[in-house]
Amino acid sequence: MMNPLFKTLFAALACGLAGSPAAVLATPRQVYPVTTEKTQLVYTVGEDGKLIFRYYGPRLHDVDQFSRTKGYNRPDCRREANYEAYPAFGMGYVTEPALSMVNADGSLITELAFEGCEQTTEAGVEHTVFTLRDRVQPLRVQLHVEAYQAEDVVAQWAVIENLGRGEVTLQRVYSSFMNFRANAYYLTHFYGTWASEMKCIEERLEPGFKVIESKKGIRTTQSENASFILSLDAPAQENSGRCIGGALAWSGNYKLSFEVDERDHLSLLAGINPFLSAYTLGRGERFETPKMIYTYSAEGQGEVSRNFHDWARKYSLHAGMSERPVLLNSWEGTYFDFDEKVLTDMMDDAAALGIELFVLDDGWFGNKYPRNSDKMGLGDWQVNSRKLPRGLQYLIDHAKSKGLKFGIWIEPEMVNPKSELAERHPDWIVQSPGREQITMRNQLLLDLTNPAVREFVWKVVDDLLTAHPDIAYIKWDANRHVEQVGSTYLPDDRQTHFWVDYTRGLYSIYQRIREKYPDVMLQACASGGGRVDYGSLQYHDEFWTSDNTDALQRIYMQYATNLIYPPMATASHVSASPGHQTGIITPLKFRFDVAMSGRLGMELQPKNMSETEKAFAREAIVNYKTHIRELVTRGDLYRLISPYACTNNHAANMLVSKDKSKAVLFAYCTGFNRRGVRPTIHLHGLDAAKRYRLTEINKISPRKSFWGDGEVFDGEYLKEVGVELQIARQYESAVFLIEEVK
Ligand code: DGJ
Repeated sequence: MMNPLFKTLFAALACGLAGSPAAVLATPRQVYPVTTEKTQLVYTVGEDGKLIFRYYGPRLHDVDQFSRTKGYNRPDCRREANYEAYPAFGMGYVTEPALSMVNADGSLITELAFEGCEQTTEAGVEHTVFTLRDRVQPLRVQLHVEAYQAEDVVAQWAVIENLGRGEVTLQRVYSSFMNFRANAYYLTHFYGTWASEMKCIEERLEPGFKVIESKKGIRTTQSENASFILSLDAPAQENSGRCIGGALAWSGNYKLSFEVDERDHLSLLAGINPFLSAYTLGRGERFETPKMIYTYSAEGQGEVSRNFHDWARKYSLHAGMSERPVLLNSWEGTYFDFDEKVLTDMMDDAAALGIELFVLDDGWFGNKYPRNSDKMGLGDWQVNSRKLPRGLQYLIDHAKSKGLKFGIWIEPEMVNPKSELAERHPDWIVQSPGREQITMRNQLLLDLTNPAVREFVWKVVDDLLTAHPDIAYIKWDANRHVEQVGSTYLPDDRQTHFWVDYTRGLYSIYQRIREKYPDVMLQACASGGGRVDYGSLQYHDEFWTSDNTDALQRIYMQYATNLIYPPMATASHVSASPGHQTGIITPLKFRFDVAMSGRLGMELQPKNMSETEKAFAREAIVNYKTHIRELVTRGDLYRLISPYACTNNHAANMLVSKDKSKAVLFAYCTGFNRRGVRPTIHLHGLDAAKRYRLTEINKISPRKSFWGDGEVFDGEYLKEVGVELQIARQYESAVFLIEEVK
């Protein structure tokens, strides 16, 4: 419950409504700041009674000065032409609208006037609600802004309410609008495809639109991610410059559109993709958009990432402060080809390596249509009795006897046409009348807009966890996107609701799981990289970053992923060499050194490892558990050398404890270098006055990667002079512990 002491009514009913703009003239203008410890958003009410977006930047000493700010004059008529806080279509076309709709009487115009603002603060989060009303139609819009004080993060979203008797149809309903003014805009965004997700690129925004979007319905982050870093005036730097990070908390279709307009302002719209997504609201119904999350830093993109990570750990990542177990996943070790013995042997080997959790991947279910390949059985969630005659419990008990937790793979939103489920419930499949059902990875999608299907999906999880309460971890996969869209459940005039209702349906299942099973770990897999967003992460403990486990590729992907999402949620596995996706041969040390900068796991057949390799793996896992895991979980990430920008083929980053007493440095050589080239790494993030001992770990030879290995330096030296590492050949790497010496 909200503490009434904190409740401040800023201003209410500041204006008359419906057709009386004269009543809203406010002199001086009312100023509404939204504030975090270091940043601020400022809104004012314009002469025309509209809520205007004024500012997002460092916290100001005197926001009242905005009461004197002049609005922009439209050259072609005597009205103000401001950037509204939540622009609607119809009266004064300044930017692309955040909201457009068909009203109950068929008219197309929406005109939102400010009605009031209420602000409350609770547990470090200031929540502001601006209420806006249409001047003619019975429509209320509430613009919500949450300000997370300590993390310098803000979340924006909108709630649209139909207060009339007739139906209205929302044509577009974005979560957030923002406007920036700078001399140049540089956008870092993410792109890729399966096995190559989350590559990043920075580009200068020129006049016109730049759009990042997905229309794939599910697995929407595989090609582009609904997040970005925007740098004002100059390309983004790690430790200086004005940067804004943004991330949409939504796992369905999304659209982020950046427009450099005729005034050279940059306008940003972010939210659900309006594409074929008109949404009808009946009498009294409301529509709540997902949250758009922002953070601002005047000290470069490094702080943007750290703010996101802090915020996620506290508010938007399940069990965000808990350490994750080191796991072995069966997929790349056995694929579909296993029996009880193969799995129990793997568990024995895993336990001997120091692994804490064994995850049984795809292939354990289906009898009439045994799941021995991806061609059949999906949807039939009964244990395959030929492969596993003693059932799952036998495996779980074996894991337990070895001191391992047990996890399992499911893909409950999907079905193979060759399955008992498809035979029983053909109407549950997403389909369009008369159209061919085109499979992807031999599978079709179940229609989560249908409550009966949602119940089925929930039961897949609930039955598993009821029958086997010791299952500690679920890997939730989703290996196709939406095509031939259509629902046999939704009425004909509501088919465009599919995209939104699917995602809401999915979230309602996650919600149920979280209520009943708060301690079960969930991985958002979705083919790898397909559900990496803050909508899904609030229910999940981690995401599967990519099916590509090649360590060299992972350096690039993990660098980009961790610009927005925390390392502790970035599942990162040591797999076999040559890599199954790339065929590249890499040393085991390199693979471990890369995987240990995220949530460490292994994904190979331990039987195929030599004794020397096993000994190295054992030692690396002990190092991870003893020194590194706490830093991956709760530490601050400092990127020191970007693999994208480095001219001499290196990459480096560091995780530093909050009290700056301990850190771990990871450094990698990503390509061939000419003789004599060595990276000098400036260690940002330490305390200049503290003294630190550097100790190399995960060593494979007595050779020192740094002459100062074992010696003590102060934080100032390590930052300003830096360390020069002897890692010059491709796939050489080094990991150093940096510990305060008192
Ligand atoms: C795709 C996932 O990303 C893989 O890790 C694995 O679980 C397969 N699906 C199993 O079919």
